[in-house]
Formats: sequence, structure tokens, C-alpha cells
Amino acid sequence: MALAEFLNTLDELAKQATAQFEAAADAVSLEAARVEFLGAKSGRLKDVQKGLGQVDKADKPAAGKRFNEVKQQLETLFSAATKRIANGGCVETASDFDPTIPGKRPVLGHLHPITQTIEELVDIMGRLGFTVAEGPEIEDLWHNFDALNIPLEHPARDPLDNFYLATAETMSGQNKTEPKWMLRSQTSTVQIRVMEKTQPPVRIISLGRVYRPDTADATHYPMFHQIEGLLIDRHVTMADLKSILRLFAESFFEDDVHVRFRPSFFPFTEPSVEVDMSWAGDWIEFGGAGMVDPNVLRAVGYDPEEVSGLAFGLGIERICMRRHGITDIREFYKNDVRFLHQF
Ligand code: PHE
Repeated sequence: MALAEFLNTLDELAKQATAQFEAAADAVSLEAARVEFLGAKSGRLKDVQKGLGQVDKADKPAAGKRFNEVKQQLETLFSAATKRIANGGCVETASDFDPTIPGKRPVLGHLHPITQTIEELVDIMGRLGFTVAEGPEIEDLWHNFDALNIPLEHPARDPLDNFYLATAETMSGQNKTEPKWMLRSQTSTVQIRVMEKTQPPVRIISLGRVYRPDTADATHYPMFHQIEGLLIDRHVTMADLKSILRLFAESFFEDDVHVRFRPSFFPFTEPSVEVDMSWAGDWIEFGGAGMVDPNVLRAVGYDPEEVSGLAFGLGIERICMRRHGITDIREFYKNDVRFLHQF
């Protein structure tokens, strides 16, 4: 084949391909044009390339050079067309770039409202001198019950109120063995873990998930979060407990919060109270508190004659719901972004 003939075919093809790439109005027609001209198997450029073999030997370098130029040119045109279509049909050139057009805001995720609340609580309690302690969510019965002065026959151990874990040991022997592990039902377990390892004074909070087999409704969920506080030192009193809770609540709710104690019972505190708070009207129950029971202090090797302590445990969902006027706890765990993005 003569060189001129080859070059003519090549030019003709380049013309047609250019026209089609430029005319393509959407991704589908552009892709059809790409397959027709640049298709790797049976594209027309591929056909022309086969013709290269028939070009006279002396002309081959020139033919090959031109072929490569055209190929490059078409690939460039194709990617420009791809960009143009992706841009909604606008060819962007340096001269019509307008820096004053507002940018497209990328959709960013953010922290879950419960996590935001936790961070804020950590911050406030940090200013009151409390550091964060952590404990496992899979807990042994010693830390969840025994060390907290909850005796074997206590109803708090009822299998209907706790998530005991079936392990190989408890499964064998037709369940004759008592369970050893459970999902912790309260963050008070962390008090024990901290006191076992540290000598007084102790000033910690612990925040995290707890589990109870409650049926989910507007105010119950089988998993929720608690903030536990523990202060052990010489001469700690109920007055300290009340003022810490009040300071804490006033910082969080940014209001003049009143704290009310109602007599209650927890095996690990004596005396024990339910903690209600009020501002702008209603009293709301946020959790339990009390003076650490001497039996608990003894269980971890402290001397109740030397030190005393206060402890409290509050529901974090409740705190967060009250702050934002959320009326159904289930909203937190539906993962519906229409709900979550409001916080
Ligand atoms: N652990 C208790 C509960 O989950 C709350 C509490 C914590 C009570 C600390 C007293 C002291 O209900």
C-alpha cells in the first residue's frame, strides 16, 4: 500500500472520530463512539493499524509516526469529551473559571449525638478533676455483682434481667455450671476495677455501654450508656455528692439546675439515692447515687475507717434526650441520617 493511501484512510477516520466525540451529548453515545473508533478488539483505528503492515517498507516509519499521533489525538479528544459530559456539558477553560461561584459542599459525616454528649461530659468532669477510666463490656460476675455487694440470691442477678453469656463451660454438662461471664449491666463494674488497682484518693468517671434485656420502647433500649462517677478520699460526704452533681448539671444544661435526692437502695451504696434534676419546671430522674458501701471498700482492700467515697451512675441517653428534646430513645440507634444530621 502506498503511504498516501494509508494516510488518507487515517485522516478520514480521525475526522469522523473527532466529529463524533465532539457531538456526543451523553455518556452512552460517547461510549458508543469510543467502541467504534478506539475499541481495543475491533475498533476502526485497530483496523487501520492492521493496514500498517501493508505499507511499503520504506514508508513504514512515517506511517507509524502519523498513526501514533492520530491515536494520541483521539484519546485526548475522548477524555476531554468525558470531562465535558461529567461537567454537565460545560467545557471548562481557564478563562471562564469563576472563583466567586460558591463551591459544592462535600457531604461530611459527624459524631453521633451520644458521642458528642460523652465528649462534653468528659470535658466538664475533667474540669472538676475527674479522669476517665475504662472497663470491659464483657464482664465477670465478680465485678458486676459480688464485689458490688450484690449477694447470690439478689434479684438483680435474675437471668431475665441480664445478658449472661453461654460459654463452652456452661454449655457442657446440660447447663449445670453457673455462668461466668455477662454483658455488664452497669458501669459500676469499673469502680471495682479501678479500686482494685489504685490506692485512694480516687477520682474517676467511666462512660460506656451497658446491657439489659429490656423490650425497646420510647424510654428503654437493651443497650444504653451510663456515666459513672467515683470519688474516694478522706472525709467525703453526701454534701460533696450533691454539689458535684449540681455543678456538673449546671455546666451541661447551662441553667440553674436543682438536684433532689430521693431515698433508694443499691447494694453497693449506703445511703443510696435516686437523683432527680429540675430546671424550668419538671423533675426528671437521671440515675442513682450514694456513699460507697463499706463492704465494697473492704472488698477491694480499702479501710472504711480511713476513707469514704461517693458514687453516681447516670443515663447518658436521658441526658442527651433532655438536652435536645428527643422523645424516643430508639431514634439514636436507627441510623437514620435525617435524624442524626440534626445534631
Ligand atoms: N449502677 C446503678 C444503676 O445502674 C447506678 C448507681 C451508680 C447507683 C453508682 C449508685 C452509685 O442503676
